[in-house]
Amino acid sequence: MKITAFNGSPRGKKGNTHIMVEEFLNGAKEAGADVENIFLVEKEINHCLGCFNCWVKTPGKCVIKDDIEELLPKFIHSDIVIFATPVYVDNVTGIMKNFMDRLIPLVDPHFEKDEGGECRHLKKFKKYPKIIVISNCGFPEQTHFQVLKLLFKRIARNMNSEVIAEIYRSGGEILKDPPLILKPFIWKYKKLLRKTGREIVENLRLSEKTISQLEKPIISDEQYIKGANKRWDELLLKSKMSANSG
Ligand SMILES: Cc1cc2nc3c(=O)[nH]c(=O)nc-3n(C[C@H](O)[C@H](O)[C@H](O)COP(=O)(O)O)c2cc1C
Repeated sequence: MKITAFNGSPRGKKGNTHIMVEEFLNGAKEAGADVENIFLVEKEINHCLGCFNCWVKTPGKCVIKDDIEELLPKFIHSDIVIFATPVYVDNVTGIMKNFMDRLIPLVDPHFEKDEGGECRHLKKFKKYPKIIVISNCGFPEQTHFQVLKLLFKRIARNMNSEVIAEIYRSGGEILKDPPLILKPFIWKYKKLLRKTGREIVENLRLSEKTISQLEKPIISDEQYIKGANKRWDELLLKSKMSANSG
C-alpha cells in the first residue's frame, strides 16, 4: 500500500502539522505501508491560470512548467493521499489551495450528475486515491475544523474518492516544543497517532474508540489559553527589548 502525504504548512519540517504526519506515517510504515512525505513548501507550485489547457490542448498535463509535473503521478498512483495542512483563516493554507487547484488535470472536463444529483467531472482514471486529512490549529476548540470537514468531503466527491480518516488537533501549538510539564501528554498523543497509522493500513478505517481518543483535548482550554497568552506576552516583551537595545 502506497501512502503519500502532501504537507501544506509554510513551516514545513519545523511545523506542528509535520509532528502529526510523521507519527502517523511511522505507524503506517510499521504496519507495512510504503510511505512518502512531501513538503509542498519546498516545491515550486504556481497558482492555476484557469486556461483549461490541461483539459483541451494537453489533456492531463498542465502547461505551467513547475513541480506539479512530478507531483501529479505521485498523487494518482498512491492508494491513500494525506492532505496535511494547518488551519489558516478557517481554511487550508494558500500553499495547499494552490496544490489542490492544480490537481484538475486528473479529471475529465465533461459533466455528469453523481448519485447525490450534483454535477461533477467524469473520471479520467479507474482508481483515485482514498483521502486522509491531517490538520492542526492554534485555537483550542475542535470546532475550528468545521470548514475543513466540509471542504474535504466535497473534494473527495469531486475526485470520485472518499475521506477514510480525519485527524484534527486543536490547540496544536503545543505539539512542536511542548513545555516540560506537557511532554508526557504529547508523548501519549504521538503514540496514539502511530496507532492511528497502523490501524488505517490494517483496516482502511478507524475504530470509534480511536476517533474518540483523537478528538479528546490534550489539556483543558483554560490551561491552553493561559499558556498561549503567557507565550505571546514573553515574545512581545523580547521583541520590545531587542528593539530598544538596537
Ligand atoms: C495566517 C494564519 C492564519 C491562521 N488562522 C487560524 C485560524 O483561523 N484558526 C486557528 O485556530 N488557528 C489559526 N492559525 C494558527 C495555526 O493554525 C497554528 O499556528 C498551527 O499550529 C500552525 O501549524 P504548522 O506549525 O504546521 O504550520 C493561523 C496562523 C496563521 C499564520
